[in-house]
Amino acid sequence: MPASWLKDTVFYEIYPQSFRDTNGDGIGDINGILEKLDYIKSLGCNALWINPCFDSPFKDAGYDVRDYKKVAPRYGTNDDLYRLFGEAHRKGIRVLLDLVPGHTSEEHPWFVESGRAEPNAYSNRYIWTDHWLMGAGGLNYVAGECERDGTYILNFFKCQPALNYGFREPREPWQLPTDHPDALATREAIKDVMRFWLGHGCDGFRVDMANSLVKGDDDKKSATSAIWLDIRAMLDREFPDAAMVAEWSNPPQALRAGFDMDFCLNNPDTGYSTLMRDYYGDVDNGYFKKDAPDRDIRRFLDIYQRWYEDTRALGYISLLTCNHDTPRPRCDLDEAELKLAYAFLFTMPGVPFLYYGDEIGMRYLKLPTKEGGYTRTGSRTPMQWDNTQNLGFSGGDADSLYLPVDPAADAPTVAAQQDDPDSLLNTVRALLALRHAEGDLQADAPFEALCTEKGKPFVYRRGGLTLAVNPSGEALTWKHSLGALTPVYRLGEAIADGDSLTMGPQSFAVFRKG
Ligand code: BGC
Repeated sequence: MPASWLKDTVFYEIYPQSFRDTNGDGIGDINGILEKLDYIKSLGCNALWINPCFDSPFKDAGYDVRDYKKVAPRYGTNDDLYRLFGEAHRKGIRVLLDLVPGHTSEEHPWFVESGRAEPNAYSNRYIWTDHWLMGAGGLNYVAGECERDGTYILNFFKCQPALNYGFREPREPWQLPTDHPDALATREAIKDVMRFWLGHGCDGFRVDMANSLVKGDDDKKSATSAIWLDIRAMLDREFPDAAMVAEWSNPPQALRAGFDMDFCLNNPDTGYSTLMRDYYGDVDNGYFKKDAPDRDIRRFLDIYQRWYEDTRALGYISLLTCNHDTPRPRCDLDEAELKLAYAFLFTMPGVPFLYYGDEIGMRYLKLPTKEGGYTRTGSRTPMQWDNTQNLGFSGGDADSLYLPVDPAADAPTVAAQQDDPDSLLNTVRALLALRHAEGDLQADAPFEALCTEKGKPFVYRRGGLTLAVNPSGEALTWKHSLGALTPVYRLGEAIADGDSLTMGPQSFAVFRKG
């Protein structure tokens, strides 16, 4: 069973380098997050996911961890982070840290030891072949970097050697089984990291690349899942309130592996990739694009409903506005389209995630790569607070900033949208307030699709509420006897007359019976 607090939770993802810089060095910090907790609360978000904020050489923006138990000095100190846990809790906000269990930085002391010629306690902490010229059975590997006679397997970039959790069916002498004492020691080391932060007050973890701990032939993920179930058992015993969200993109697998939530990411085989933009088609039929030539909600629902029915008793599917790895929704959607997309995302089952800045429609900026970001860099620019120096992100010089702020004269800011009741920012606030007020919009209230035909509004039910969205530029009617309905929230025109539901151009509504 997922942690009970998730039922009425909305997450805010913070990329710490770009949120708020309080010491003028051009990089966001933990104190900046502390300063903005009331703002986050005002959105209706009551939980945070903070991207890795640990000591790192930052060749992959912190996903290359050098010390799992130390806050990177550029963000502050461990004490700052402990203070953040305490302050956030006082304001009713939970905090998830980012756990990177699949690899470390090549500068992590475990790896330095592992690469030594002399066998030692860390020799098998990473996956090494036993000859310096040996390939690794199709896995990516590096040769020629260490004194040890072997090549080592990578998890992602060259700087990220894969930790060794063993192989489901070892085929080579250098492949350990998952129950080998050294593979078990890796697992225990990660549990130790989790215990450390949970013991200091964090509420759980977003788990990086959770589906690929076991290398080689683990296609159905049975061996990787067994490891997570063991870790879950530890949490259930020692930190029963802790929550974990997987970067897995397969909720049936992830939730059966003991995760509370799994992200729906923009991989080709998740329907999510058809919502905000059409990632894989030749023509952009993104569902929320006003002019999509062949809009079809079934492209999302065919996958989502299967997953939802399969997993609703186990945990939650998390829909997100975007994340630090994907283009911002503003790339393809204008403000009117964004409002409808968010209205949909925030009224669906599961636990939604809002990426910092999406609430004001921050743009994706075309920028050279920073810290291994490549095309992801443009989604990681500083938060735009107001029209003061560096848009309120930092008091430092503009050239010292981690990344430049949006230079456009009309760069959206919190201050500019704050007093406009129709702004994107206040629409997000209204939608999240509604979600918190209506138990039927929360994570576990039932979902049913009512009208999914092309050329009609998409109509769905959450518990006793009926919802409808029409992203197109024309009014659309669904003739169906729904009984008397009264709107409790509306964007644009929505008329329910008992026998039909007419949704005006670009509209969304939530109705109550009666
Ligand atoms: C993270 C990325 C990171 C990669 C390697 C992910 O999926 O979200 O930002 O580069 O894992 O750790």
